[in-house]
Amino acid sequence: MKSSEKAERIKNMKGRNPVSCLTGYDFATGKLLDEVGVDLILVGDSLGMVVLGFPDTTHVTMEHMLHHTAAVARGVKNALIVGDLPIHSYDTPAEALTNAKLLIAAGADAVKLEGGLKQIKKVAAIIDAGIAVFGHMGMLPQRVLMEGGYKKKGKSEGEVNAIIEGCLALQEAGCFGIVLESVVGESAAKITDLLEIPTIGIGCGLGNCDGEIAVITDVIGAYPWFVPPFANIRADVAGETKRAVAEYISDVTRRESQNRQD
Ligand code: KIV
Repeated sequence: MKSSEKAERIKNMKGRNPVSCLTGYDFATGKLLDEVGVDLILVGDSLGMVVLGFPDTTHVTMEHMLHHTAAVARGVKNALIVGDLPIHSYDTPAEALTNAKLLIAAGADAVKLEGGLKQIKKVAAIIDAGIAVFGHMGMLPQRVLMEGGYKKKGKSEGEVNAIIEGCLALQEAGCFGIVLESVVGESAAKITDLLEIPTIGIGCGLGNCDGEIAVITDVIGAYPWFVPPFANIRADVAGETKRAVAEYISDVTRRESQNRQD
């Protein structure tokens, strides 16, 4: 299926089927998620934290994103792959388009950027070139330093109206869907009802959006050092890795010392 058809398929799931989305950063994870049947894989700039060890996503570069997008693309056949445009890769419409094209050349089907009204010219430049765009509203992790932390959004009427205005502008510009991050559940449900394109929630409470997205390491328990309060951990990959490695070390050291004695 062509990239544009994949994006259209996600858009048309609104009101029919909930959209399942996960982040993925490498070949093996991309292949596993695709084999299980996830609808959308986001090569998110969260990779800066959970793969590259930075304190937040503001350290991520296009070089990082291209490297990981290409790895995921090598493993995925069916899911829509979205490549995140990292901070300062879309400061102008021209930069946004150049970098979106690079992500597509690396194997993404679509790109994502953060923000609403201020980004509309950039979104339009990308969409005019035939590239599908996924919006991102609510808590915007690339602004974490400016905002002094990860804050819940949509608490006041003014905040909800600003998010709605941004979402409607993104929809009008042609986005096929919008991530809503850390928005109060009731506000997320209101925004979801107002839009014609799917909202994909993270930290908005289950059932308030048209689909859900989660960071893969939160789902499988692979990154225990920072777990957001809304994460629903379903496995203990970190614990299992430590157990297997400890068993391996003890096996190697026991056998080596036995050999010496023989
Ligand atoms: O980078 C990322 O993983 C994201 C999700 C939190 C939506 O933007």
